[in-house]
Amino acid sequence: MNECRTLGLEYIDLYLIHYPVRLKGEIRMVFASDDVTTVDMPTVWEAMEKCQSLGLAKSVGVSNFTCKKLADLLNHARIPPAVNQVEVHPVWQQRKLRDFCSEKGIHVSAYSPLGAVGVLWGSNAVLECEEVKRIAESMGKSRAQVCLRWGVEQGVSVVVKSFNEERLKENMEIFDWRLKQEDQERLSSVPQKRLILAEAFISPTGFYKSQAEFWDGEV
Ligand SMILES: NC(=O)c1ccc[n+]([C@@H]2O[C@H](COP(=O)([O-])OP(=O)(O)OC[C@H]3O[C@@H](n4cnc5c(N)ncnc54)[C@H](OP(=O)(O)O)[C@@H]3O)[C@@H](O)[C@H]2O)c1
Repeated sequence: MNECRTLGLEYIDLYLIHYPVRLKGEIRMVFASDDVTTVDMPTVWEAMEKCQSLGLAKSVGVSNFTCKKLADLLNHARIPPAVNQVEVHPVWQQRKLRDFCSEKGIHVSAYSPLGAVGVLWGSNAVLECEEVKRIAESMGKSRAQVCLRWGVEQGVSVVVKSFNEERLKENMEIFDWRLKQEDQERLSSVPQKRLILAEAFISPTGFYKSQAEFWDGEV
């Protein structure tokens, strides 16, 4: 597998399909949404399974898969995906998808658990959420810690990113306290909004014509 060779590793712990899309032509970072096309998932997943069987990946999984796409995959998978890495935070809690994954034994990994504040594809909607702000103030924790602790208490693994040493430490200090029951309940009633829409893959003239189509109605 090229990825192992490029990384100078004998194996990868977890190998994910990043998005349920394929590009026409060469793999490249810059592309037009009309270059996006359908994936032959049975063939791709068979190759992922082979990576695991050969020991090149300890586990294989997916990312940005909806309940429908997971159900389709499970229909033909010999090895079920270990993980589905998706957007999860208090403003987009993905309850339906998390329940589905839990029923099927697929671990949910939460990307952009702070809503990707300050990042090209993100927003400040999570760290500016009134409930998050109020809980952080009342508990003497940072807003980021409240979001990350919420994720951990939901049973997801939170994949947070920081280039700042202080914030890296802050983000680790979430394992020796808990959210109060009433605060968990308040967070569960936060209005929901998907923040990361994968717009680059959607075009009225492309394969995925709308958000609803790309996300199988989970928008
Ligand atoms: N599978 C996928 O399709 C997918 C999609 C999106 C993201 N991801 C991955 O998920 C990981 C995290 O996602 P993300 O970077 O989009 O979003 P994120 O972790 O929610 O947000 C990162 C942003 O939050 C800031 N930040 C981190 N800790 C903070 C704190 N304690 N207080 C205030 N701000 C804080 C960071 O700034 P500083 O660096 O300045 O601290 C950075 O601007 C990344 O590794 C990313 O590659 C995967």
